[in-house]
Amino acid sequence: MNLSKKIVVITGGSGFLGEYFTKALQEAGATVIATDRSGGAEIQLDVTSKASISSAFDAVIAKHGKIDVVVNNAAIDPKFDASADKNAALFENYPEELLKKSLDVNLLGYTLIAQEAVKRMLVQKSGNIINVSSIYGIVGPDQGIYPEGTQKPVDYFITKGGVVMLTKFLATTYGSKGIRANTLTLGGVFKDHGKEFTDKYGARTPLGRMANPEEVGGPLVFLASDASSYMTGANLIVDGGWTAW
Ligand SMILES: NC(=O)c1ccc[n+]([C@@H]2O[C@H](COP(=O)([O-])OP(=O)(O)OC[C@H]3O[C@@H](n4cnc5c(N)ncnc54)[C@H](O)[C@@H]3O)[C@@H](O)[C@H]2O)c1
Repeated sequence: MNLSKKIVVITGGSGFLGEYFTKALQEAGATVIATDRSGGAEIQLDVTSKASISSAFDAVIAKHGKIDVVVNNAAIDPKFDASADKNAALFENYPEELLKKSLDVNLLGYTLIAQEAVKRMLVQKSGNIINVSSIYGIVGPDQGIYPEGTQKPVDYFITKGGVVMLTKFLATTYGSKGIRANTLTLGGVFKDHGKEFTDKYGARTPLGRMANPEEVGGPLVFLASDASSYMTGANLIVDGGWTAW
């Protein structure tokens, strides 16, 4: 799983997993261009703006000559804190503007990134797109693990499910052009979740716990590498068994 000579662009590179993903790809030898909407990233790229994506990709190609792998990672994961209006968290009341925001970043953003990547990969006659999704793109929520009276909001499910289909569309449409696409589906990764949540999450998971961030880099490296060269349209599920029952 050697990524030396591979030029990899990742979106949301300044985020929680973006930083772990970048490190894992670099450790495998890749040249990683970590992009994000915010100023701290190596290259600023707003996934909701085609112009922003296009100029970032052009800058990478001007400097490195190609883009081998694009990791679609930037997304909004809507959460409600205890002080928020709990009623608004319920599906039937969930605000339209929040739905639109998630659709814009998580679904339109992934699609715009893929469009601009494919344009350049067709010229190269090769390329590899990895779409990061979630168990919530495959299965519905067990709302019982979330704080009493709240719900995990619907926008995460509809957008993450859409990502799985984006992958399949890209795989079947561009496989003959040397471009492959796969989904990396993750279960919950431990950050600063409270004990009540981690206990409930663990009880709902065959491996009994959330993932550690160090455990999700390897699967991404595998999909980015030639070790997965015969995989396209697939969904690599790294979820401690969550979706197995
Ligand atoms: N953390 C988890 O437990 C978990 C579980 C399953 C799947 N995932 C998926 O992993 C990916 C990364 O999640 P994370 O936990 O690191 O989230 P995060 O919120 O820490 O990071 C997301 C990053 O995306 C960036 N971003 C948001 N809008 C953007 C835009 N318009 N343009 C460019 N960048 C933008 C943010 O600035 C942020 O740096 C997401 O696709 C998420 O759905 C995460």
